[in-house]
Amino acid sequence: MTNAILVTGGAGFIGSNFILQWIQSEGSPVVNLDKLTYAGNCRNLEQVATDRRYRFLHGDIADRKLVRNLLRECEPRAIVHFAAESHVDRSILGPDDFIRTNVLGTFSLLEEVRAYWSNLSEPGEFRFLHISTDEVYGSLRSEDPAFCETTPYAPNSPYAASKAAADHLVRAYHHTYRLPTLATNCSNNYGPYQFPEKLIPLMILNACGGKALPVYGDGLNVRDWLFVGDHCEAIRTVLARGRVGETYNVGGWNERKNLEIVETICQVLDELRPGDPVVPHRRLITFVKDRPGHDRRYAIDASKIERELDWRPRETFASGIRKTIVWYLANTEWVNEVTSGAYRQWIAKQYSG
Ligand code: NAD
Ligand code: DAU
Repeated sequence: MTNAILVTGGAGFIGSNFILQWIQSEGSPVVNLDKLTYAGNCRNLEQVATDRRYRFLHGDIADRKLVRNLLRECEPRAIVHFAAESHVDRSILGPDDFIRTNVLGTFSLLEEVRAYWSNLSEPGEFRFLHISTDEVYGSLRSEDPAFCETTPYAPNSPYAASKAAADHLVRAYHHTYRLPTLATNCSNNYGPYQFPEKLIPLMILNACGGKALPVYGDGLNVRDWLFVGDHCEAIRTVLARGRVGETYNVGGWNERKNLEIVETICQVLDELRPGDPVVPHRRLITFVKDRPGHDRRYAIDASKIERELDWRPRETFASGIRKTIVWYLANTEWVNEVTSGAYRQWIAKQYSG
């Protein structure tokens, strides 16, 4: 595989959308290194599984020998680092895996990448693109301006703290060793293949099944939603044209209260599924105990990536949420597979009281 890129965590939600888009748009080879935790699913990549431009390797980013051999063998021209534990609620119930993968895993990967990169004949062409989150900036009050790239870090959950630590390591590897890094900090994504423990797919599936729609606290927390395909395009743009050592905030200028999101899903389902067990679906909305330390508001100022790299989201929230709902309704086999055994245990534990 010449000219390949290496993607870590490519069997997860954003990583798999990225690989599918990459093969369709760029057409060059991709190697996917994924540990296949509960969040990783090779079925997401069924469409490219037999494509000669795609290769999957099952493994952990923290396995240094495996990463060393992979880099030596595939000689990637770039790495896009998605692999992470990504669910805030899980980080509250059990932070260990978050530190292990997001902090120590990223550190191990950086060490192996540094060794590989320092032996390249054209090291200036190489890129390490780290995928991060707006949660590292902490929580905004309603009157605060949106997060920009210079907003001080103030992570509030174990997940956010582990991502902040990873971001700092990436920054340090550029500053100290001149590793050609880039970083993106994106807001909440939604779209196909998102694991249904996250707000939007959970609400779609519960609403269809006549189950309660558990809204944390008063439902007035604000997130800034971006369709996953737009995030993937932003990542491709940063990889192609981003300035080395820089961070780019990525978002959809689309702040919404959680309750508004749930109500929108209910309205679309009222139209598409009038025969569901409980209609109107909004009757299922149930306020439940709040997430501990629940950040009140996130908002991304995406002007830097727009100005410097000419990236803009294509989807509106109305078009993106409809596409997403239609996707979940059409992909019942995928849904049934991911909502089996272990998933049901998680839901029982998380919403037990
Ligand atoms: P996800 O949980 O759906 O997928 C994570 C993937 O990483 C899974 O396939 C999993 O198997 C893999 N993985 C986990 N630990 C690993 C390890 N040690 N070695 C190799 N693979 C491992 O996550 P996602 O929502 O697709 O998020 C991807 C990245 O984007 C994360 O870094 C996350 O912090 C970031 N991000 C997510 C969002 C969002 O809204 N989902 C927004 C901004 C940034
Ligand atoms: O902001 C980017 C982040 O977005 C990413 O870094 C994370 O990986 C991703 O999981 C996401 O984090 P959130 O905590 O914002 O996403 P989640 O879907 O878990 O929750 C969105 C909002 O909805 C949040 O305010 C909590 C609320 N919520 C969530 C669930 C699962 C509910 O009210 N009820 C629920 O059952």
